[in-house]
Amino acid sequence: MLERTHQAPPIFPGSQSFSTAAAQPVCATQGQASVCGRAIFQVEFALSSGRTNRGRTAVIVGAQWGDEGKGKIVDVLTQTFSVVARYAGGHNAGHTVIINGKKFILQLVPGGILRPECTNVVGNGVVIDPLAFLKEVASLRAAGVKVDGNLFVSNRAQVILPYHRMMELGSENAPGRVKIGTTSRGIGPAYEDKMGRRGLRAADLLDSQLLRTHIENACREKNMIAHALFNSDPLDADKMFREYADAAEQIAPFVRDTALLLNRALAEGKSIVFEGAQGTMLDIDHGTYPFVTSSSSTSGGAATGTGVPPTSIDTVIGITKAYCTRVGSGPFPSELAGVSGGAQGEDLRKRGNEFGAVTGRPRRTGWLDLPLLRYAGMINGISWLVVTKLDVLDHLTEIPVCVGHKVDGKETDEVPAQACGYEKLECIYRKMPGWASPTQAIRTVEALPKAAREYLAFIEKETGARVGMISTGPDREQTILVPDFISELGLKSG
Ligand code: IMP
Repeated sequence: MLERTHQAPPIFPGSQSFSTAAAQPVCATQGQASVCGRAIFQVEFALSSGRTNRGRTAVIVGAQWGDEGKGKIVDVLTQTFSVVARYAGGHNAGHTVIINGKKFILQLVPGGILRPECTNVVGNGVVIDPLAFLKEVASLRAAGVKVDGNLFVSNRAQVILPYHRMMELGSENAPGRVKIGTTSRGIGPAYEDKMGRRGLRAADLLDSQLLRTHIENACREKNMIAHALFNSDPLDADKMFREYADAAEQIAPFVRDTALLLNRALAEGKSIVFEGAQGTMLDIDHGTYPFVTSSSSTSGGAATGTGVPPTSIDTVIGITKAYCTRVGSGPFPSELAGVSGGAQGEDLRKRGNEFGAVTGRPRRTGWLDLPLLRYAGMINGISWLVVTKLDVLDHLTEIPVCVGHKVDGKETDEVPAQACGYEKLECIYRKMPGWASPTQAIRTVEALPKAAREYLAFIEKETGARVGMISTGPDREQTILVPDFISELGLKSG
C-alpha cells in the first residue's frame, strides 16, 4: 500500500541562496582537456566540501502520459531560476508556451530560452536531430528570441540520423509488430543505438573524419537490415554525410561539456530547473511498456540525463491535467471511450484543444486517474503538484474521478507490469461536484469556486502531495500560485 498521508514539503536549507554572480565561461568540447580536468576537480571540491551555497534545483515531471503542460510551469519557474536543462527525449516532445498571446512550440530547446537571462541546456540524456534543432533555432531567431550564448547542447547527447527514422517507419508498419503509435521521429532507434554502443554523440558529429566513417558503416548495415526486413529503399551515405557535416558546423558553437557547466552553475549558487519531456506513464521502465517512449522521463532521468548527481536534486514537481489524456496506442484505464464515453470524450478533446503539439494527432481523453497519480508520486518522489487545464472542466456539474483500481473484483494499488494486465483493470469512480462556472480570470485559490477548491483538496488528500500551482488557461497570466509554493521555490508572487 502506498501511504496517502500529507507530508510537509521539503524545505530548502536556510544556508542556500540564489547568487546573482555572472556566469563563468564554460569548458569547450575540444582542446581544453587540462583546463576541464582542473575545473571538474574545483567543482567537486566546492560541492563536497560545503564551501558553496549550492543553487536550488527542481525537476519538472509529467505525472501522466505527457502533454500535461510542463512548458508553462517551466516558464513560471524561470522567473527566478537561472538554468533550464532538458534531460530526456527528443523532438518527439512539444512544449507550448503562450506569452502575451504569442504561441511558441518548443521541441528540443528548453523553455528558458524565452527569457534572455536564462541559460538553457540540452542534456546528454536527450537524442538530438541536428536538422530539427537547427530549424527550431532558426525559427526562434526569426521570432527575435536570443539563442546565441544561452543555449548549449551536451557533447554526450546522442544524434538522430535519417536511418533511425527509416528503421522506425519500417518497424511500425511491419506485419506482426506491435504498433506503438510513435511520433516517427526516430527516437526509439536512436536510443537503441545508444544502448547498443553504436551511436553517434554530438562530440563525434563535430569530428568530420569520424562522422564520415560512422555514416558509411551505419548506412551499409541499416540499409541491409531495412531492405531485408521492411523492403525499404536504401539511404545515400555520401549525401547524408554532406548534409550532416554542414549541420555540424552550425551546431558546433552550441556544443559543450554540459555536465561540467551545470555542476559549476550549481557550485556558484545558480538554480536549475530540470525540464522533463513526455510523462511517467511513458517512461521506458515505469510506464505502460511497450507502449512507452524510449527514455527515462521520470525524475531519476534528470540525474543520468544531465550529469548532475541525484544528491543535488531538491524538489520534484509533478504536472497533471485536471483530467487525463494520452496520444498513441496503449493502456488508458480511465479513458472515455465507447458509446457512452464517445460524446463526452469528444467534448473534452474540443474544449481542451487536445491535439498533439508535434503530430497534430487527436489525443484520447478520460478522467483523472488517482491511483496512477499516486504511482507517479511514488516513482518520482513528487512533493508538489501542478494542476493544469482546470478551466476545461468549468462547464461540468459533476466530475467523475477514478479513485481506485480493481482486478477480479478486488481493489489493488499495484500498477500492472504488462500491458495486457491493464485489460483486467477496472476503474472505481467517484463523482465530484462540478463548479459549472468560469475559472479563467481567477488569480487566487480563495477566489476559485468552492467545488473547484474541493476538487483540488481531494487530489491533495488522495496523493499526499500539495497543489502548488493551478493553470486556468494557456497564457502565462492565467496561473494561480499558492503562497507556500512561491516561498519554497523562491518565486515572485505577482
Ligand atoms: P516516440 O517517443 O516517438 O517513440 O513515441 C512513443 C510513444 O510516446 C507514442 O505513444 C507517442 O505518442 C508518445 N509520445 C512521445 N512523445 C510524446 C509527447 O511529448 N507527448 C505525448 N506523447 C508522446
